[in-house]
Amino acid sequence: MHQIDVILGLQWGDEGKGKIVDYLANDYDIVARFQGGPNAGHTLKFGGKKYVLHTIPSGIFRPSLINLIGNGVVLDPVVFQRELRALEQSDVAFHDRLLISRKAHLILPTHRWLDAASEAHKGKAKIGSTLKGIGPTYMDKTGRNGLRVGDVESPTFREQYEALKAKHLELLKIYPEVTFDLETEENAWFESIKELTTLQFVDCEYYINDALKAGKKILAEGAQGSMLDIDFGTYPFVTSSNTITAGVCTGLGVAPQKIGRVIGITKAYCTRVGGGPFPTELDNETGEKLRKEGMEFGATTGRARRCGWIDLPQLRYTIMLNGVTEICMTKIDVLNIFPEIAAATKYRLNGLETDTLPFDLCNTAVEPVLKEYKGWNCSLETATTYEALPEAAQAYLSDLEAYLEVPIKMISTGPEREKLIVR
Ligand code: GDP
Ligand code: IMO
Ligand code: MG
Repeated sequence: MHQIDVILGLQWGDEGKGKIVDYLANDYDIVARFQGGPNAGHTLKFGGKKYVLHTIPSGIFRPSLINLIGNGVVLDPVVFQRELRALEQSDVAFHDRLLISRKAHLILPTHRWLDAASEAHKGKAKIGSTLKGIGPTYMDKTGRNGLRVGDVESPTFREQYEALKAKHLELLKIYPEVTFDLETEENAWFESIKELTTLQFVDCEYYINDALKAGKKILAEGAQGSMLDIDFGTYPFVTSSNTITAGVCTGLGVAPQKIGRVIGITKAYCTRVGGGPFPTELDNETGEKLRKEGMEFGATTGRARRCGWIDLPQLRYTIMLNGVTEICMTKIDVLNIFPEIAAATKYRLNGLETDTLPFDLCNTAVEPVLKEYKGWNCSLETATTYEALPEAAQAYLSDLEAYLEVPIKMISTGPEREKLIVR
């Protein structure tokens, strides 16, 4: 039976999913996004250039590959149009190989303002949303009010839009502090909808299952990270979709037994952007050094990312939730300059040590139990095999493998496409 392989983030996002999807894409016929939306920022680097994708799957730069935006995604046609322009500028042909599920939900301009209003209302407790309208759009989806890509083809589309907009404008009256230029943004939105209709819409669930039957190889690309999952993340400091493997089933329309390899990505350390708990955060010089060396600034919002050591109880949790079959570790090169590095192996909670995540990390002060490792203090430039890595790096990796009980099959040593060690 043909199966779908999955690549997803095991931490709080920005693990380097885009790079790894782009690297592996050549082994596949289809790359599909199954959740999230323009809150994602996936960076690819090759040929001396950098590309950032938000809605478009990271297989788009591999010629002839089909890229599918699944029903679980929320799509802002304006952001999407901007991404298409950027592809054109890079001479990437996409028209016959970028498909969109009719059941994907549309982000309206008013969704973005509702996002801003919700955050303003929360004050200090704000989530640190990317303000792309993600939360309000998924709320309309589950609230059964949403507009979907396929609705664009309906003769009553404008009326459906007006009804939803009217509801939003009523809600926005509660938040007079949020101001916006409705006419300009609405015009731009309808212009971008026109362009959307030039692409091919599909019934993703049939498309994907037919492709599997026909023996096509499919890779599902996650957005965000497992600790931002709506059910299992650090609620309420999470995103509004299921970012874990289960999301592939609902976000593309495939049955669980169709899931094949699950490649979980983790940085060699840990980052988070926005508010919420982060047990191994280093709010000190070391954290600053990680941020600087790792160039930890958001690909979507430009915000500085919070940095800390790798957190093994956290990773064991997300490995369990996702059924990870292999790990890809990225950004190991960032640790090159550290004389010592560390990993949290357990949490200390009420005087006891545990490796279980508490119900509410937001209101439970867990203290990470750190294990120190010797740094390798040299460049990894020339290492193209695992065996060529410095001894100290191998010791770090094999110790983590023992804790995580999953093989680390890929090690990324730089942002460029070719900087990857595959074991
Ligand atoms: P994504 O959202 O998971 O796709 O990750 P982002 O693109 O938001 O953030 C990852 C950042 O790290 C990007 O700037 C990548 O170019 C960069 N990156 C990816 N892998 C590596 C690596 O192995 N080493 C270094 N130094 N940078 C990397
Ligand atoms: P990629 O796919 C890192 C974070 C936001 C905020 C919370 C909710 O690039 O890894 P939202 O806009 O979804 O309402 O924000 O989730 N967040 C991300 N952090 N990487 C992402 O995506 C993220 N997408 C959302 O910073 O804390
Ligand atoms: Mg990102």
